[in-house]
Amino acid sequence: MKIKSIQSVKGTQDILPTEVHVWQKLERTIFQVMSKYSFKEIRTPAFEKTELFSRSVGEQTDIVSKEMYSWIDQGGENLTLKPEVTAPVVRAYIQHNLGSISPSVKLYYIDALFRRERPQKGRYRQFHQFGAESFGSENPEADVEIIAVASSIFKSIGIENIKLKINSIGSKICRDNYRDELRKFLKPHLRKLSDTSKIRFEKNPLRILDTKSPDEKALIIDAPNISDFLTSEDKSHFIEVKSFLKDIGIKFNIDHHLVRGLDYYNRTIFEFTSENIGSQDAICGGGRYDNLVKDLGGKDTPGVGFAAGIERILLALSSDEKIQNPDIYIVGFGNKAIKHVLICAEALRNNGFSVNTDLLRRSLKSQMKEANKTRARTAILIGDKEIEQKKFQIKNLEDGKQYDIPFDSLIQHFKSL
Ligand code: HAM
Repeated sequence: MKIKSIQSVKGTQDILPTEVHVWQKLERTIFQVMSKYSFKEIRTPAFEKTELFSRSVGEQTDIVSKEMYSWIDQGGENLTLKPEVTAPVVRAYIQHNLGSISPSVKLYYIDALFRRERPQKGRYRQFHQFGAESFGSENPEADVEIIAVASSIFKSIGIENIKLKINSIGSKICRDNYRDELRKFLKPHLRKLSDTSKIRFEKNPLRILDTKSPDEKALIIDAPNISDFLTSEDKSHFIEVKSFLKDIGIKFNIDHHLVRGLDYYNRTIFEFTSENIGSQDAICGGGRYDNLVKDLGGKDTPGVGFAAGIERILLALSSDEKIQNPDIYIVGFGNKAIKHVLICAEALRNNGFSVNTDLLRRSLKSQMKEANKTRARTAILIGDKEIEQKKFQIKNLEDGKQYDIPFDSLIQHFKSL
């Protein structure tokens, strides 16, 4: 009887050896760019107390009300696999009193997150984000630096056709007033709204602005704009954010109907979208959260941050970015060649080249086939004749040219290419 194999859980994905190099390239870019902007990495646990997310992301949000993987553990604690990283970073910031080190603390992360959403292209139940959180400054330059660091990573990795949308949702008083006006506007149309929007009408009408339904989208075109409800401080903050973005050459569109699906935001919110990846087009989202540190029990400390979805970014990358070539494939034939292949491979690797060799003692023909398949740029051939003459045969696999080089000039030769 054939034993049934076990498949991965719906909405989760393996990152296979054929694709992991693109992840590694993105991760290297993140490390480099974050360090240029003086952000330091923070790593938080995979699970937290459930209360951390209900008190920050918000009870009424989709994430907390229906998407969290939560359970009561053997000790009776209510725990949750983290659905986002801002709340855990704020928790760590408070718990370790990071504000005492410096009045401006800038942190970044690369992490795996869990949300029980309906899986589709670009939407998974385990997914990955990189992001940054900047604590201590309520000034618009902190918002602009956060947007700039995200934008710089997208540019460095080579993503094209992305757009930045920004909005200001002001301070609490502004949102309270706007919520009332929005309800007044929507009330006569309540019958036409979907069941989800009817619930949102009661609990958080701003979220209706985020609707995907074409009918509802048409309806809200005439809805009042939150910009008319901003306080004068909110207004000047937003004016400066826009003007500084222009100063450093970051293009954006203002979207007065942009709202985010998490409750902790105030003032600036933003999203980067890609035209290349289908309906789940938000590759990055973020904003300011000046009350979150205080609301989670810390000192009154403003904050602003972003998080970008790694799977969506990789979908948005052009296929050229995804090709990776090892530098060299060493082909050994005959028993005497084995140790020479090992010595030569080690010497090249120690000098920074990526090298692959055959471990199966296959024929010369199969090894050459493998060298081409792995898209190596060069093959080094070592057989009895080469060992006797102390010369390697080199084949350039891109243009087919073949030549010999003496054993002792191998490294020098590859360095000079
Ligand atoms: P978010 O908008 O929930 O914000 O997620 C940020 C990004 O994560 C999205 O734009 C998307 O690219 C990706 N993402 C979200 N859900 C999924 C999913 N199910 N599958 C694949 N990718 C997904 C936050 O998480 C906030 N913590 C961002 C932030 C940081 N705000 C301030 N600081």
